[in-house]
Amino acid sequence: QPKKPVAGGLVANYQGVWFYADLLQATLTFQKHFKAIDSDIILATMPKSGTTWLKALTFSIVNRNNHSVDESPLLFSNPHYLVPFLEIYLYKDGNIPDIDSMPCPRILATHLPYQFLPSSILDCSNNCRIIYLCRNPLDVFTSVLQFLLQNGRISSPSMSIDVPFERFCQGIHPYGPFWDHCLGYWDASLKNPQKVLFLKYEDLKKDINSSVKKIAGFLGYPFSAEEEEAGLVEEIAMLCSFENLKNLDCNKEGELHAAFRAKHSSFFRKAEVGDWVNVLTPSMANRLEKLFQEKLGESGLALETNS
Ligand code: A3P
Repeated sequence: QPKKPVAGGLVANYQGVWFYADLLQATLTFQKHFKAIDSDIILATMPKSGTTWLKALTFSIVNRNNHSVDESPLLFSNPHYLVPFLEIYLYKDGNIPDIDSMPCPRILATHLPYQFLPSSILDCSNNCRIIYLCRNPLDVFTSVLQFLLQNGRISSPSMSIDVPFERFCQGIHPYGPFWDHCLGYWDASLKNPQKVLFLKYEDLKKDINSSVKKIAGFLGYPFSAEEEEAGLVEEIAMLCSFENLKNLDCNKEGELHAAFRAKHSSFFRKAEVGDWVNVLTPSMANRLEKLFQEKLGESGLALETNS
């Protein structure tokens, strides 16, 4: 398949999905070699859907007995170091990492569509858990462009959003089409709710404390009555809040590992629902909303855009 340029790189279509061309090899190596174990926790997202937040929350919930909130590794490490990406980082360039030595439960992240996950994860006899975080496509499109801009991967004066927008509507963007990505995990969460938890960024923004409890319960780490009384749910929500993480030194300066081609600070921009209004015209927003309504059809999945 010929490669196509998109904002920030080249994509190639593989079995109906658009991948960053330079990450395809890593995807295939990950698919072939990764062996899930029962205690694994897989965090799945489209880029710019709140992955960093989900990583911080899951890490804090699961490790809350290993260290207090005041001593959390999150205070001195970017969440992307604590929860590595499988195909972008660990399996990069065909590397086969030694992840057997990672402490259990292993918390790992991926942007791959559901049907591309290694068979050992999908296997129903394996009890590993998957959490999918979905965000409305208008804000995701906006966030992607701002992220590429912040990291010098596109340049503002020469950039028109018409071309990337058109491509996005055609489904041509990394891990796209977007609607197929959400629907894959949505269907899986309906079929197997013990294994796949489907969350929405907008719901986390509305009520983070309930979301923290939901994640904990789903993963088999429910908060005890004593923990709740002691305010641990709120403490974890505060620790992982945008304002807190954004202002930590470890997230302000420097760049992540070269595989990311990104500054630490670029993962913490505005964190608002509805920021698309500053980038998309009303007619673009309208088109994207209609397109998604049509694509999501009768699935029962509705995405909230704040429009
Ligand atoms: P914006 O660009 O709209 O600000 P990802 O982590 O998947 O790369 O997504 C990044 C988006 O999540 C950015 O959105 C970023 O600001 C937002 N984000 C990062 N940390 C967050 C947090 N702790 N709470 C809420 N949103 C957060």
